Amino acid sequence: MAHESRFDEQTAVVTGGSSGIGRETARAFAAQGASVVVTDVDVEGGEETADLIIDDGGEATFVEVDVTSDEDVAQMVETAVSTYGGLDVAFNNAGIGGTFDETADISPERWQTVIDVNLTGVWRCLRHEIPAMNDGGAIINTASILGKVGSAATPAYTASKHGVVGLTKVAALDYAEENIRVNAVCPGYIETQMLDDAGVTQDEQMLSDVVGMHPLGRLGESSEIADAVTWLASDEASFATGETLVIDGGYLSQ
Ligand SMILES: NC(=O)c1ccc[n+]([C@@H]2O[C@H](COP(=O)([O-])OP(=O)(O)OC[C@H]3O[C@@H](n4cnc5c(N)ncnc54)[C@H](O)[C@@H]3O)[C@@H](O)[C@H]2O)c1
Repeated sequence: MAHESRFDEQTAVVTGGSSGIGRETARAFAAQGASVVVTDVDVEGGEETADLIIDDGGEATFVEVDVTSDEDVAQMVETAVSTYGGLDVAFNNAGIGGTFDETADISPERWQTVIDVNLTGVWRCLRHEIPAMNDGGAIINTASILGKVGSAATPAYTASKHGVVGLTKVAALDYAEENIRVNAVCPGYIETQMLDDAGVTQDEQMLSDVVGMHPLGRLGESSEIADAVTWLASDEASFATGETLVIDGGYLSQ
């Protein structure tokens, strides 16, 4: 089904837009008519995402944003409003993986960093995005299957993603009257830089173990998450709020 006009006249902000799921979703929003504010700490990758969108005939602006900085996040929303006249859609997606440490062994610094980016980063975004959504809007936060179940030796990551699921539900309740829908996606393992950084894709045994956790027998692709996010952001999902949409090749069904 073609969705070229789904987000015509709308503005979307995307965090973590330099790579992986964020890049693919930013491109999907733009291909479906949105003006997109692409943001990330990675300037080179973010500018590349904006260029890809413009080369495809879309509208995009890159802004350097670290989601641990309140000032940066405020600037992201301000850019959407001043450049494109408002804010309709937000994809709060920036995240980092954890190191593999058992619960008592993770360093306090690492714990704090993961929580600050993955959980408090989403709250910082909500805090600035919601007041800018004057005529309602749609917000999607990136959680994870690890927002629903645990995985050994990922205490901060799993706690941060469970936090995102809870925060999504509360924000959905708080702003339902303003017609701001707040949902989350919970991806299974998706082939992105994050998995490379975690050493999953380089180690044959680890890769085959991870693939084996997904009944569909493969890793997911960023575009498969982008499809879910754009649906949640669209009018077709007009009665969906507080939902955590699992896209995981069957991982959680076992
Ligand atoms: N890949 C997976 O298997 C998987 C599974 C479930 C959930 N997720 C989640 O999906 C989201 C996107 O990850 P991805 O897989 O596309 O990985 P990725 O590493 O390709 O993309 C993450 C992006 O976030 C950016 N980022 C990191 N810290 C930031 C900060 N402080 N401020 C702004 N940007 C920052 C990175 O520069 C990068 O561009 C993350 O929230 C991740 O936890 C990924």
